[in-house]
Amino acid sequence: MGKEIDLLRSLPRTKRNVEKRAEEKDDAVVALSRQYGRDYFDGERKYGYGGYRYDGRWRPVARDLIQHFRLEPGMRVLDVGCAKGFLVKDLMLECPGLDAFGLDISRYAVMNCEKEVVGRLHLGTAVSLPFPDGAFDCVISLNTIHNLARAEAVTAMREIQRLSGGRAFVQVDSYRTPEERELAISWIITARFHDYPDGWLKAYAEAGYTGDYYWTIINR
Ligand SMILES: C[S@@+](CC[C@H](N)C(=O)[O-])C[C@H]1O[C@@H](n2cnc3c(N)ncnc32)[C@H](O)[C@@H]1O
Repeated sequence: MGKEIDLLRSLPRTKRNVEKRAEEKDDAVVALSRQYGRDYFDGERKYGYGGYRYDGRWRPVARDLIQHFRLEPGMRVLDVGCAKGFLVKDLMLECPGLDAFGLDISRYAVMNCEKEVVGRLHLGTAVSLPFPDGAFDCVISLNTIHNLARAEAVTAMREIQRLSGGRAFVQVDSYRTPEERELAISWIITARFHDYPDGWLKAYAEAGYTGDYYWTIINR
């Protein structure tokens, strides 16, 4: 197994009204959010982002990823669950010549991607990545794998391992205490599987995943 490392540490902290989210959440909201369409990205906050726009916040994250994985021009990187391709764009801005790609299940996100990444984003699912073994020098997946049921999450992690040989970074929803778990359950809309880090690490081990990882933990 790789190591626990916070590679998203430079991302600004998001303001979250956990109580409001919990009040507004019902089966219909969850079902619409899980379509990953306009409502999820650019609709009301109760469905997801409440407006998912490029503002450059991923650039320092891109810098940290490039440094951590010693990425260089000519290398190939894949972002699984890339949404509109903000990180894909920023990886290429921070390391000109890096060949960055993304994959997402959302047609809306791919159709509304940053113009710099048009043609670099694939429509597909993390469970079955349409690329040959070892196709990438590095694979990243941020806040996406928890959207799968546990068995599918294991398959997706196996896929990430297959493409990357373990030069990879995955971040998912988690919690370290019962209080954090309660907060996470109030906040989470789309996630189908979440667990304490130990539970995730067990799933990663089942997948044979040897890459690095970290957790998205909801705090007040
Ligand atoms: C919380 S967003 C994360 C987006 C981006 N990685 C970030 O951190 O800002 C979750 C993303 O996962 C995508 N997604 C959900 N299920 C997926 C699947 N089975 N395969 C690939 N992408 C998926 C959604 O469309 C959405 O873009």
